[in-house]
Amino acid sequence: MRIDVVSLFPDFMRQCAAVGVVGRAQQRELLQVETWNPRDYATDRHRSVDSSSYGGGPGMVMMIEPLRTTLAAMRAAAAEPVHLVYLSPQGTRLTQGRVEALARLPRIALLCGRYEGVDERLLAHEVDEELSIGDYVLSGGELAAAVVIDAVGRLQDGALNDAQSAEQDSFSDGLLDCPHYAKPVHDALGSVPEVLLSGDHAAIARWRLKQSLGRTWLRRPDLLSQRGLDAPSRALLDEFRREHASRRPTRQDDATG
Ligand SMILES: C[S@@+](CC[C@H](N)C(=O)[O-])C[C@H]1O[C@@H](n2cnc3c(N)ncnc32)[C@H](O)[C@@H]1O
Repeated sequence: MRIDVVSLFPDFMRQCAAVGVVGRAQQRELLQVETWNPRDYATDRHRSVDSSSYGGGPGMVMMIEPLRTTLAAMRAAAAEPVHLVYLSPQGTRLTQGRVEALARLPRIALLCGRYEGVDERLLAHEVDEELSIGDYVLSGGELAAAVVIDAVGRLQDGALNDAQSAEQDSFSDGLLDCPHYAKPVHDALGSVPEVLLSGDHAAIARWRLKQSLGRTWLRRPDLLSQRGLDAPSRALLDEFRREHASRRPTRQDDATG
């Protein structure tokens, strides 16, 4: 898969894409991340990419022309058609489902705004989709683009050392992930649940599903209502609720109210 990033901070984007799973995906040639700086396509001697906003008010707006030329060069750099995403607080909220759909495309491009954003006419004519990473305002689209690159990059076949780990992650089947434990088995903070040491794969799978159902019920009941539960899952969740009602409260319970 190829991801083109249009940004005034290409070095930052390259650094983000060079580390961890995404960096490894690039080394394995599963993913190619290219950057495009609109300033390189500005034509005046100051290499301007922004101007003041018509109608007045504070803040600058990214101009059409340098972006139009940058996007034309970006589109021409590879044969595949490109799905252009503008990162914006006004976009549709990014979800794992949307990430999975983007990860199946051969090529996407990410347009990062700065200042007050991008001239509306360019967005209307060039952009296929606007995506937001949450209801808050960042000073630029780069961090949001890095989020998309990471979430999409790790889903490329062969990017994760164990392909199953993505299948078990939160949201992949509409539930939150179960709790995980590392060494040692016993610690002053508590012990690893017995079942995880049993070697009984069916019992471990059942326990993990019960914890996933329970956590989702506790933390994200909205996900449970969207997903729906079959009879065995409902029974498992009832078992979790009974156990939960009879155990001592933890700091996490205090935090989630
Ligand atoms: C300061 S923001 C502009 C905000 C814009 N004036 C508004 O209120 O909708 C500058 C850029 O940051 C990016 N950005 C800010 N918040 C974002 C979010 N929640 N998700 C994705 N991109 C965001 C966008 O690319 C935006 O053009």
